[in-house]
Amino acid sequence: MDKLEINTFETEEEKEMEKKEKMKDDLRHFIEFLLNNRSSFLGEGQTAKVHFHTENPDLCFKIIGTRSAAGKQLPKPTIPITTTASPGSLEGQFNSLEKEGDFLNIIQDMRGNVIIPKAYAWAMHIHEDEGATYTNREELSIMLMERIHGPSLRNILEDDAVIPETFEPTTFFDSLRNFLRDMHERGIFHRDLHDGNIMIDEKTGKPVIIDFGKSALGREEDVYEFIYTDRGRSIEGLYHKDEAYVNEIEIKINTLIKERQHELK
Ligand SMILES: Nc1ncnc2c1ncn2[C@@H]1O[C@H](COP(=O)(O)OP(=O)(O)OP(=O)(O)O)[C@@H](O)[C@H]1O
Ligand SMILES: [Mg+2]
Repeated sequence: MDKLEINTFETEEEKEMEKKEKMKDDLRHFIEFLLNNRSSFLGEGQTAKVHFHTENPDLCFKIIGTRSAAGKQLPKPTIPITTTASPGSLEGQFNSLEKEGDFLNIIQDMRGNVIIPKAYAWAMHIHEDEGATYTNREELSIMLMERIHGPSLRNILEDDAVIPETFEPTTFFDSLRNFLRDMHERGIFHRDLHDGNIMIDEKTGKPVIIDFGKSALGREEDVYEFIYTDRGRSIEGLYHKDEAYVNEIEIKINTLIKERQHELK
């Protein structure tokens, strides 16, 4: 069985049907492209892979895939089993790409000294193979979004990437902190702001915040709480305070800049 569902995000300025249809076509083409195993790899994290759009330099696709083999469904139990993730389970602690895209788009009006990539469309592709005793299920979730040109701070700290000439550390980290303060005032917390999720826009040197896959809406005193799984185990270190991370990264970047200057002498 193959099921493909494609949707676009609702934004005020982009309601023209034609543009949206184009986005859906782009996504449809990309899925075909991906299913044919052609490569246009840009980067990856723990959950997702990001590919660039081969015809449009300003677009990219974030892909999350899950594979599972499930036993055939038993007859309905007399006690109903809930299918939604219970608040304590690990499932539900990560955002779907649809939700991540919503986060990216609701803060677009704050874009200025800090850049947030725009989300354009998302798709869900489900493939099911029915065996005699098992059903193999593959889910592919894809988001079409604005592509950022420039390295992540992790690329610089760990992969020896060149620091763009436009980068000015004091301005960069001040802008980032101001932005986070405003974002938190709106009740939005990133919770996964490590060096791989902060990029530098090459052209302007401005910070870019990506990957709202663990972000949440809420009050500061609640959003960073440890989570408890169904078995009552607490998971520490799943979420990280946005500012604490930024301060740590700033120190590392400044140290690296000094080292590189020293090497040049
Ligand atoms: N909009 C974008 N433009 C260009 N490159 C991007 C973009 N979004 C992501 N990337 C690249 O792809 C990598 C992985 O993306 P992302 O951080 O969203 O994945 P993830 O699996 O959710 O990461 P994490 O391990 O932090 O959970 C990034 O570190 C970055 O190098
Ligand atoms: Mg990431």
